[in-house]
Amino acid sequence: MANASGFLTQSMRISSSFGLNPSGFCYPEVIPKRVRCSSTSQAIETESRLPRLVSKGCKLVGCGSAVPQLQISNDDLAKIVDTNDEWISARTGIRNRRILTGNESLTGLAAEASLKALEMAQVEPDDVDLILLCTSTPEDLFGGAPQIQKALGCKGNPLAFDITAACSGFVLGLVSASCYIRGGGFKNVLVIGADSLSRYVDWTDRGTCILFGDAAGAVLVQACDSEEDGLFGFDLHSDGDGNRHLNAGIKENESNHELGTNGSALGFPPNSSSFSCIKMNGTEVFRFAVSVVPQTIEASLAKAGLDRSDIDWLLLHQANKRIIDGVATRLEVPKDRVISNLANYGNTSAASIPLALDEAVRSGKVKQGETIATAGFGAGLTWGSAILRWG
Ligand code: ACO
Repeated sequence: MANASGFLTQSMRISSSFGLNPSGFCYPEVIPKRVRCSSTSQAIETESRLPRLVSKGCKLVGCGSAVPQLQISNDDLAKIVDTNDEWISARTGIRNRRILTGNESLTGLAAEASLKALEMAQVEPDDVDLILLCTSTPEDLFGGAPQIQKALGCKGNPLAFDITAACSGFVLGLVSASCYIRGGGFKNVLVIGADSLSRYVDWTDRGTCILFGDAAGAVLVQACDSEEDGLFGFDLHSDGDGNRHLNAGIKENESNHELGTNGSALGFPPNSSSFSCIKMNGTEVFRFAVSVVPQTIEASLAKAGLDRSDIDWLLLHQANKRIIDGVATRLEVPKDRVISNLANYGNTSAASIPLALDEAVRSGKVKQGETIATAGFGAGLTWGSAILRWG
């Protein structure tokens, strides 16, 4: 039986049913099928996905990250807006951030992070059957995930699409991966958090431009049997009413078309549009975060059948040190059990959780089998959490 989160609680974990094999899976033979790929005009081999029965578990088996080369310090920012290192450090905990420049691209960072995750997981790009790109800043309006699939050179045209939920994006991506694995029979799902909010920052607004940096992080989520299951519970929410506190809305450009009909009663063809810079009421977003994040983690723990004391690591979206400290205090998680790399990278939106996870895993801080409580929060407003096990 699944609980309301869709996950099995610890006490409710069940062995395989539906007459599945001992691993808990039932994967029928895939049938190779010839399809015509329009971009290549060549017949290529793909696998026809027959309906599969539900696998019972999923686990995090690899991670990777990538950041741009250019580092911008608080002192650098003090040269362009009325601010200083002391204010930024004390109010946010941020000292440096990385910014995309020159030939660098978000797609490139996301592909680099993904390759590192695949290498750690010892999974070939061809064996990835789903790519979820969690981003609010794709380099194509129609989504960036297929470009990552191309960059990774995955044969067999695995599904790749974007998830947009701002700084909550990666948690939503993880939960989505688990649902695709549990309910859809997918085996290797690459979940990428990648954002370049620097492209949407008003660099004259000292209230926001000090906060953000660019980065990408990725995790490979893999199907496994129920005993190895590593995603214990989740809790996800949104509140569109809070959008007024944090947004980057669409704006119609003022330039007229050559056709000259803009501004007429008909208003056609429409003016081209773009997005405005990030506008944020920091105080409101701060209050929102310290209020909802402890609640959502408590909810996920309850769904997982776990207690606060079961948390080995607290890994929150890296937005502000005071938010992270406040939540840790509320949940009574000791400081040395809190993962944070905010000082070096600022708020990297959907990338912040996988970036911090990757550093913690590669440095040996987070070890195989340890339990992580993670939570994202941000624009939308959106927020959510998941209790998971590394490895
Ligand atoms: N340097 C110096 N002074 C500044 C700066 C700056 N960079 N920015 C603001 N100030 C001033 C203000 O003008 C104000 O001055 P005043 O008292 O004379 O009016 C004073 O500092 C205090 O400003 P506040 O905005 O009240 O400062 P606060 O302590 O709230 O910190 C901050 C601002 C850091 C933005 C904080 O509110 C915050 O972190 N909020 C949460 C942001 C967040 O978590 N976002 C996550 C989601 S992001 C996403 O989803 C895309």
